[in-house]
Amino acid sequence: MCERMMDALVKPVAGPGLELRQVPVPHPEAGEVLIRVHKTAICGSDVHIYNWDPWAREHIKPPMVIGHEYVGEIAELGAGVTGLRIGQRVSGEGHITCGRCRNCHNGNIQWCKNTTSVGVDRDGAFAEYVCIPARNVIRVPESLPEDVVAFFDAFGNAAHTALMWNLVGEDVLITGAGPIGIIAVGICKYAGARRVVITDMNEYRLDLARKMGADAAVNVAEEDLTQIMHKQGLVEGFDIGLEMSGSGAALGQMISVMRNGGKISLLGIANQPVPMDMNKIISKGLTLQGIYGRKMDNWHQMSYMVQGGLDVSPVITHRFPYTQFEEGFAAMNSGRSGKVVLDWTK
Ligand SMILES: NC(=O)c1ccc[n+]([C@@H]2O[C@H](COP(=O)([O-])OP(=O)(O)OC[C@H]3O[C@@H](n4cnc5c(N)ncnc54)[C@H](O)[C@@H]3O)[C@@H](O)[C@H]2O)c1
Ligand SMILES: [Zn+2]
Ligand SMILES: [Zn+2]
Repeated sequence: MCERMMDALVKPVAGPGLELRQVPVPHPEAGEVLIRVHKTAICGSDVHIYNWDPWAREHIKPPMVIGHEYVGEIAELGAGVTGLRIGQRVSGEGHITCGRCRNCHNGNIQWCKNTTSVGVDRDGAFAEYVCIPARNVIRVPESLPEDVVAFFDAFGNAAHTALMWNLVGEDVLITGAGPIGIIAVGICKYAGARRVVITDMNEYRLDLARKMGADAAVNVAEEDLTQIMHKQGLVEGFDIGLEMSGSGAALGQMISVMRNGGKISLLGIANQPVPMDMNKIISKGLTLQGIYGRKMDNWHQMSYMVQGGLDVSPVITHRFPYTQFEEGFAAMNSGRSGKVVLDWTK
């Protein structure tokens, strides 16, 4: 039998770059679903893989197809899959969990101790087709813009981090105006925050955060955050902090401007251990919550927030056909980008 072939972005060997190659279309095994990919978005971790940094060297075993942010339609169902049908608009949860550990059993699958990841531990979505377990398939209303659903994975990280706390009437500090920080601005405003202040040193990205509705976007290399807090009418400090930079300096600054009793969620991943002022955390009575991945419920929340009027499209800065993927990665590497969307429809 002649094997069906497809285009895919492959990490061919250990080293920088990706190659556009023909590879076999994956076959959905029992309990799996084959998805025809329409659009994908480039995540920071894809850039790590592209650049072949120490994290990528540790986690990626070439040759493999990468990518985990996508929207598409169901193309084929493996044996035994029920409740889904060919042609349905879908995205997919990229963390494949065991379903048996204690966290899986209590619904906190984001803390499964046996997680494997699409586009990291198994072939990913930067391809015409991707195959995932049926329970990871997320149905998405057809009315939602595909450019936005393409990055629901990253949107879900932002939603999980921001919606960890009740935001109604609260003053929020977001450190790091990367794509996830920028999306978080929109979520916090939508969820009822009073003031949303975001920091970075990258003016291009701060500008995107302003377009997303930030009350203040602060260049910490040039401006004094406490002065801006006062201008924004914050008297006792921020109620909620979302650390989305992975920088120890940003976390230190956040801790110093939180009000007593404030709550912080930590999404940003540091590339080395971060020292912090424990005494300040203790004397201020702060709560710090680590965030990994997203809750399955966030997928529904995202669809409903978009249907309810949350427009996160200002974070999209570049769109390319997949054949121009090099330009997409160059945009991400330049720092002058928000989300980059690749189109896989011909
Ligand atoms: N925990 C998880 O499951 C998870 C999932 C996805 C992403 N992440 C992490 O979340 C973070 C955000 O993701 P992203 O794709 O938006 O990242 P990104 O790297 O594109 O953005 C981080 C931003 O932080 C800024 N920054 C650096 N130092 C700063 C400082 N001192 N103060 C303020 N800003 C500073 C950078 O200029 C950059 O714009 C990253 O660290 C990423 O690794 C974690
Ligand atoms: Zn991602
Ligand atoms: Zn588990």
